[in-house]
Amino acid sequence: MDAIILLGGPGAGKGTLAASLKKDIGCLHISTGEMLRAVIQSDCEIGQAARACMESGDLVPDALILDLIQSRISREPDDARFLFDGFPRTIQQAEGLQDLLSQLNGKISYVLNLVVAPEVLLPRLCGRRTCKTCGAVYHITHRPPKIDGVCDVDGGELFQRTDDREKTILNRIEVYKKQTAPLIDYYRTQGVLYDIDASLSPAENVAIARDILLN
Ligand code: AP5
Repeated sequence: MDAIILLGGPGAGKGTLAASLKKDIGCLHISTGEMLRAVIQSDCEIGQAARACMESGDLVPDALILDLIQSRISREPDDARFLFDGFPRTIQQAEGLQDLLSQLNGKISYVLNLVVAPEVLLPRLCGRRTCKTCGAVYHITHRPPKIDGVCDVDGGELFQRTDDREKTILNRIEVYKKQTAPLIDYYRTQGVLYDIDASLSPAENVAIARDILLN
């Protein structure tokens, strides 16, 4: 079992990069944000707790996240390769992941750290639109759909995420700085961290990431 981690602030481009990489390098894309949004849809008790955290831009408790990850990765074969997007997000989650991988004879091979200036994040997230049906991600100026509000892939309706409002985005950026940014040094000291200048275009980011992962 092998894990690649995409690390970066909200709007750094983790999901956009993952969508291309999963086809290129043949791995299972696991986004904890997407998993949580699916749990919320089912309207269970866990979903209600997660919804409150996500709508304010705070992190969902570590124990809940680690339970979700454990049940997700334990279903896969020993030679599975995971691409984690938005996980881990705290030192406690990183330690939990390490324990899970050790039990499954797995390891973290790469951590791709998407580096982008904080002032770039707000306009990226305010302009993001997502397809209700297939989850394809657009941006009203950087990557607009051919028809306003309509997905190019399947004609689905595009929507703005409820946590992509300015006040919530600013809290998400603060939460990232305090709780997630310490993972940069954590993984750098393990010798698995690679910085990517995520202010470049999505295509350039994909090319750089491919070079790192395939060489
Ligand atoms: P999550 O869904 O993971 O959100 P996030 O980490 O804040 O990241 P985003 O999805 O907002 O951004 P992204 O980096 O994927 O950027 P994207 O590619 O879409 O988490 C949401 C919430 O769930 C959290 O706040 C928390 O409450 C909870 N949660 C999730 N995981 C958790 C965990 N492990 N522990 C605890 N709580 C957790 O791009 C953004 C926009 O920019 C798009 O419009 C895109 O088109 C555009 N764009 C992308 N790349 C570029 C580029 N290179 N140039 C120009 N535009 C670009």
